[in-house]
Amino acid sequence: MKKKPVILLGVTGGIAAFKAAALTSLLTRVDMDVRVIMTKNAAELVAPRTFQALSKNPVYTDMFSGDSSAHPHIDLARQCNLMCVAPATANFLGKAANGIADDLLSTTVLAFTGPIILAPAMNEAMWSKPAVKRNVKTLVKDGFLFVGPETGRLSCGDSGVGRMAEPEQILQKIQDVLSCIKS
Ligand SMILES: Cc1cc2nc3c(=O)[nH]c(=O)nc-3n(C[C@H](O)[C@H](O)[C@H](O)COP(=O)(O)O)c2cc1C
Repeated sequence: MKKKPVILLGVTGGIAAFKAAALTSLLTRVDMDVRVIMTKNAAELVAPRTFQALSKNPVYTDMFSGDSSAHPHIDLARQCNLMCVAPATANFLGKAANGIADDLLSTTVLAFTGPIILAPAMNEAMWSKPAVKRNVKTLVKDGFLFVGPETGRLSCGDSGVGRMAEPEQILQKIQDVLSCIKS
């Protein structure tokens, strides 16, 4: 990989979406090119413009806007070396585990052939739910890579498992996986 690695960062509608902005900043600081896809719910929590400013690239939220390409899911999938979804909501995990493609991010996951790292984040009760556990098991079996979740204070005020891994930890995982692709 002679050129800058191109990272496709998926941001879903978890409260930890603000930490994905810090991750974007870290990735650009280590000279990676970051393309961001946000779900509609993520864009309710953090403005796409934040990611646009930090990545210096357009942010993609819509399959059918036609702004950048007629087939954004295919073009983005082809342009990137690695995909990372942070935070990954319970909803996103369920869709990815079942091959559901009902928005730009979930469709791009299906079109992408490289490594995909997931950083789940949710309330402990959600993370412990049998349906979520089943989906995680399926995703591991299907070759998705995971970082976190961690134990700690959750945004709802509880403490427990479900906190998204810190941006530095996710960056490290991305660098580790990229070094495996190179060698
Ligand atoms: C303030 C707020 C915070 C939320 N945080 C989370 C979260 O951390 N994890 C999660 O799985 N869902 C969370 N949700 C619920 C998701 O936004 C909801 O399940 C949504 O359908 C996810 O859509 P997406 O996966 O397409 O982004 C939150 C909702 C709100 C209103």
